[in-house]
Amino acid sequence: MLLEKIYSERGWDFRNYKRASLKRRIQKRFAALNAGSCKDYCRSLDTDPAEYDRLFSTLTIKVSEFFREPEVFDFLSRTVAERFKRDEGIKAWCCGCAFGEEAYSLAIVLSECLSAEGLKNSRVFATDIDSDALDTARKAVYRGESLRNVTQEVQENYFFKVDGMHKVKYNIRNLVKFGTQDIVKSPSISKVQVLFCRNLFIYFNKFLQEKVFEKLDYSLVPGGLLVLGKAEVLPPRFASGYTPLGERLSVYEKKA
Ligand SMILES: C[S@@+](CC[C@H](N)C(=O)[O-])C[C@H]1O[C@@H](n2cnc3c(N)ncnc32)[C@H](O)[C@@H]1O
Repeated sequence: MLLEKIYSERGWDFRNYKRASLKRRIQKRFAALNAGSCKDYCRSLDTDPAEYDRLFSTLTIKVSEFFREPEVFDFLSRTVAERFKRDEGIKAWCCGCAFGEEAYSLAIVLSECLSAEGLKNSRVFATDIDSDALDTARKAVYRGESLRNVTQEVQENYFFKVDGMHKVKYNIRNLVKFGTQDIVKSPSISKVQVLFCRNLFIYFNKFLQEKVFEKLDYSLVPGGLLVLGKAEVLPPRFASGYTPLGERLSVYEKKA
């Protein structure tokens, strides 16, 4: 009933997200408002429409950090260096980019692997359903905890300090283009060569995983690289179209 209400009032479609995780998140809002039942909570939504935004923010879990699962980024750096030409541009897409940590990490990898000419023709498209998170991402200012996987050398090369915080340098920010996109409802980006979609499928039920994966599959060019979260696997219907690379990293190459 609540999910239907959110969908009809705001167009946010959480109906095929995993119920257990949604329930835990919704309970947090119930507790914050002392709502004893779904009916009580719906009344709060009607009397205080700003509660929709608080609920939305609670339901879209945005935990991330730079170079999350560093072994995946190490592997990716080697693979990009081996498979792509230094002077040719790469079109990358980071779907479900939260506050931008992953998109900037990917831009740093491209910076390390490509020449100035290659970078000039490269772009990381970074999308998320949460436009407030993207406003924060565009500012590119982070607390030290978000950089715990970033080596001193990379920090010195790609960040500078502002008021005790870490800001991503302009050359990296310039590679990343943020845009609001609900991957459940919107069409995907075409001709992508490196596609990150990590820690988003874990929130979807099987039906939605397949539906969204169809869009990712459409986006990637043959030979393109797909990176899922380490706890995520390809929907079985698509598995034969991809070759796993590396050891249990959830990095795949799309077959020709
Ligand atoms: C846990 S974060 C993952 C961040 C990053 N990819 C990582 O692995 O560190 C999941 C992100 O997916 C976004 N998200 C949830 N539903 C979405 C949808 N339908 N379309 C696009 N993004 C969505 C959330 O707003 C959140 O920022």
